[in-house]
Amino acid sequence: MTRPRLFLPHCPYVKEYFMSILKVTRLGHPVLRKVTEQVPLRELQSPAMQRFIDDMVETMKEYEGVGLAADQVFESKQVAVLEVADNPRYPDKPAVPLTVLVNPKITPLSDEMEEDWEGCLSIPDLRGRVPRYKTIHVQALDRYGDPLDFVAEDFHARVIQHEFDHLNGKVYLDRMRDLTTLTFLQELARYWLPSEQG
Ligand code: NI
Repeated sequence: MTRPRLFLPHCPYVKEYFMSILKVTRLGHPVLRKVTEQVPLRELQSPAMQRFIDDMVETMKEYEGVGLAADQVFESKQVAVLEVADNPRYPDKPAVPLTVLVNPKITPLSDEMEEDWEGCLSIPDLRGRVPRYKTIHVQALDRYGDPLDFVAEDFHARVIQHEFDHLNGKVYLDRMRDLTTLTFLQELARYWLPSEQG
């Protein structure tokens, strides 16, 4: 099945020429605490929104994130991108293909939760241990407006819950059981990870 592409798809040079790295909001900016707006299909399929999604992907890659929500780049819209592939900020994590989630809904498939380290491009240089549901059902639209419906587990489910929280005005700090594991990256490597490995 071929899909009519919406925005300058055929020449990678042209597309690259138009893509830009966006500025990332940091914790404290009010936009991070707002519940984002649903994106109507017509808006999603507009050249402006398609370009914005390309820019989000480019920005996530530039800063070595595994996910990015639109409100992290000052757009209060229900759009998130994620990808895990040989990421130096998250080594040893299983790969997740590039995914665009629009107007996502998530449902936990069991009460089972797991705790692991999380970081956030809007909260630079810090990590903390965050409990997340281990298995979730995800329903969303892709960037073209087609429905997505899948089950995500483990780190994949964690990334989606983190981005979904952003779209609802929450950050990972809100989900920590307490703040005693909050640590800078340098101290994480020095004081926390050796004991986990040993
Ligand atoms: Ni984040």
